[in-house]
Amino acid sequence: MERTCLAIILAAGESTRMKSSVSKVLHPVARGRRIAHVVDALASASISDVALVVGRDAEAVAAAAQKAGVTVASFLQKERLGTGHAVLAAREAIARGYDDILVVFGDTPLITAEPLRAARQGLAEGNDVVVIGFEAADPTGYGRLIVENGVLVAIREHKDASEAERRITYCNGGLMAINGRKALDLLGRIGNANVKGEYYLTDLVEIARTVGGRAVAVEAPEEELTGCNTRAELAYIERLWQQRRRHELMLSGVSMIAPETVFLSWDTELAQDVLVEPNVVFGPAVSVESGAIIHAFSHIEGAHVRAGATVGPFARLRPGAELGPNSKVGNFCEVKKAEIGAGAKVNHLTYIGDAFVGAGSNIGAGTITCNYDGVNKHVTRIGENAFVGSNSSLVAPVTIGDGALVASGSVITEDVPADAVAFGRARQDVKPGRARILRERYEAEKAAKKKAKAAE
Ligand code: UD1
Ligand code: CA
Repeated sequence: MERTCLAIILAAGESTRMKSSVSKVLHPVARGRRIAHVVDALASASISDVALVVGRDAEAVAAAAQKAGVTVASFLQKERLGTGHAVLAAREAIARGYDDILVVFGDTPLITAEPLRAARQGLAEGNDVVVIGFEAADPTGYGRLIVENGVLVAIREHKDASEAERRITYCNGGLMAINGRKALDLLGRIGNANVKGEYYLTDLVEIARTVGGRAVAVEAPEEELTGCNTRAELAYIERLWQQRRRHELMLSGVSMIAPETVFLSWDTELAQDVLVEPNVVFGPAVSVESGAIIHAFSHIEGAHVRAGATVGPFARLRPGAELGPNSKVGNFCEVKKAEIGAGAKVNHLTYIGDAFVGAGSNIGAGTITCNYDGVNKHVTRIGENAFVGSNSSLVAPVTIGDGALVASGSVITEDVPADAVAFGRARQDVKPGRARILRERYEAEKAAKKKAKAAE
């Protein structure tokens, strides 16, 4: 039978070194709240029961940790007395009785399902405590794993460690699995006789051993366990996240010419055979279908780009932009809350907002949908195979029928029926010979001035 599991996320820290008015787990990584990444990792390890230990910004942290398919119950740790004390804030949840208790930190957004599974596997093999360790490039500040003959005998916190122990580079990553049937008993034995006067969760290793249990350490890559306390470390985490996600996308069939210049959000979906040119930013809620090309310097958020469409260079797609198959949004165009039909073209310097553009229509350079009257937003509807001449202003609400043609430079304030031609501007007024008369007059004035100057 499958083992039951409760994950406990510790997120009650003060975040002092972030120098921030909000908890560090609320700071974004890849445009998602940091703690949401941790919940995602739990979900991908098929863990659906979560106890969240919160302190400052309790409500906002709890809200950021919500995820469909995962039950997240919050527990307030009123005083911050250490990681051992924090886990016991979720006593009520632990008491429900689980096979596995998994403790994770809320500030490690790079964690994946892999070490979570490895830790649980350790419990399934009969250990009472399984610690995920890593080889630290610089172990300063971390708890050191003291391993003898393959058995984890203790975790020594940096501040409590001897000189010899501080030379150990195998460190505690902060992720721990505990035998759920013994957890409350073991946790209840943690004391605070140490340098910091805190209840250390890490004491569980020695405690388990004194009651005849067994503890082991399992190694994971340092990257996955990287936490962060300062904004400089947050930027480093972001860099690692971006590198990892770009790599995954490229392996899944997405081409990137200069991947290090492409910025993704946690939920960016790029299908196979999408090509992304340099310097593209994907904000939240973007999906791009197969064969689409995102040209350089485009900024895209909340948009759906269908197969074969092309975007940019220098295009901005804002929330609600829906680009149909093989459509084209070109340079210096902005599209917001608008559908661009299959094969339609919006090529140059255009703003399309609150609009529908039918399949096969062509929107000329500089066209603007005037969607806002200062108070309300209004909709522009353009039918199929219509042609809007360059530099037209479409004053919404307005409808342009299928196959209609709008003369360039028009200001369209009334509906244009299907197949009609609309001139929304004054007709051209031509005065034959007038330019020559003006030119001769000007030359004569110039000559007279010159003569007067010479006579002075
Ligand atoms: C902890 C480990 C250390 C490990 C390191 C890995 C202990 C005693 N030490 O040290 O062995 O190498 O993580 O990064 O566990 N928290 C609470 N309430 C508290 C205290 C902490 O919710 O009262 C939360 C924090 O928000 C954070 C996590 O627990 O998410 C870890 O606490 P932190 O103070 O950062 O532990 P470290 O000293 O880094
Ligand atoms: Ca820490």
